[in-house]
Amino acid sequence: MTTLIQGGTVVTAGDTFAADVLIDGEQVVALGRGLSGDTVIDATGKYVIPGGIDVHTHLDMPFGGTVSSDDFFTGHRAAAFGGTTMHIDFVIQPKGATLRQALDIWHAKAEGKAAVDYGFHLAITDLPDSVMEEIPQCVEWGVTSLKLFLAYKGALQIDDTTLFRALQQAARHGLLTMVHAENGDAIDILVKEAIAAGNLAPKYHALTRPAELEAEATYRAIRLAEVAGAPLYVVHLTNAGALEAVRLAHGRGNTFIHAETCVQYFFFTKDDLARPGYEGAKWVCSPPFREVSDQAALWQGVADGSLEVVSTDHCPFWFEGGKDGRSPGKELGRDNFAAIPNGCPGIEDRMMVMYSEGVRSGKISLNKWVELCCTNPARLFGCYPQKGLIAPGSDADIVVWDPEARHTISAATHHQNTDYNLYEGLEVVGMPQVVISRGQVIVEGKAWKGSQGSGRFVKRAAHRRSS
Ligand code: URP
Ligand code: ZN
Ligand code: ZN
Repeated sequence: MTTLIQGGTVVTAGDTFAADVLIDGEQVVALGRGLSGDTVIDATGKYVIPGGIDVHTHLDMPFGGTVSSDDFFTGHRAAAFGGTTMHIDFVIQPKGATLRQALDIWHAKAEGKAAVDYGFHLAITDLPDSVMEEIPQCVEWGVTSLKLFLAYKGALQIDDTTLFRALQQAARHGLLTMVHAENGDAIDILVKEAIAAGNLAPKYHALTRPAELEAEATYRAIRLAEVAGAPLYVVHLTNAGALEAVRLAHGRGNTFIHAETCVQYFFFTKDDLARPGYEGAKWVCSPPFREVSDQAALWQGVADGSLEVVSTDHCPFWFEGGKDGRSPGKELGRDNFAAIPNGCPGIEDRMMVMYSEGVRSGKISLNKWVELCCTNPARLFGCYPQKGLIAPGSDADIVVWDPEARHTISAATHHQNTDYNLYEGLEVVGMPQVVISRGQVIVEGKAWKGSQGSGRFVKRAAHRRSS
């Protein structure tokens, strides 16, 4: 059974060209003109791009006294409607558990629900020798990236001993180490001081997590990675100071230091946390939103390649949860910002917002958009060219993108399992028309054509260190 995507403009990270794309079964088999297929999808006037890959998500994750509100079906359907056909989610090792036990818990969450392909990173919270010895096996399990949290004291945070040991072991065995880089010890003191002073509103979340503490932790993690000789990936980088630490590493010739930002950090500031009433809680995530000047730095960072990936850190919570079958949400921190579950939705919005506000507004090129959102994620996380590319032999994860379609983002119409959207009311130009996952059409216009259980776990290759 073949499908032909006919008459479109193929856009990859490196090229833009007119070509039809022929799919046979689950894979792309040819690009060219004059091809024929059993089924034809008309892509005249449209872009044909590799499916988006979001390497930073938290589906069905216990966190902050509740659980994130999208599971592996609702999150996947939302991703697909936004043009994302693969994501990599964070398995969180419960303290005292083995990595294998933790991974099995997350496999069970996805089992029977997944509607797009997915991978896992392993977030280590506890590293006795027995867990050190498990790290090499992660590669056999297809999990080739670890994550360490330098923040969330008393919960997910690990110390520098753990970070350094993990970096060394990961480097020996072909894994990429990721860090959430904020100084959790200093934040803990600032949070306690704010509470003691009666400063309890959502805006104090941002004020107690200053950019300097992210810059410090970013610099520290990078220097430790350099000493360990380990590739490092800094997640959700938000500000100019942290970016400077990455640039310094690149300036030393250390191209094995990588960093991502997340789409929302281009658009919001700490002032959003000070919106009237309790509204600001919607914008509570870590690291927090920063300044307008940091947004400009991030645009510069993606343009010059210092930041290689734009992901979402999709970690949705209800604004008004705890009723009608909803898990508790942001209301948990109504009287104390420190109790607001940290995280924001965005898996559905990323590709549209980056296209409309990034490409169309002239901040990044069309190819850069594909590079940041589709191709670099696959390259860095061991699934390229199976994913992230349209070429013979690649999985047919493809989006037919209508560059002129207009869409107003709203919680009333989005597919994310939350009652709010950070971009509420924003009109974007450009959105998916057809979304294909391994050869199957799963979204056609506004219609959902996918199915629960059709998404597959992607075993990723060991990380190949650049220089
Ligand atoms: O606020 C956030 N980012 N929540 C998800 C967990 C994390 O730190 O990535
Ligand atoms: Zn984080
Ligand atoms: Zn995260």
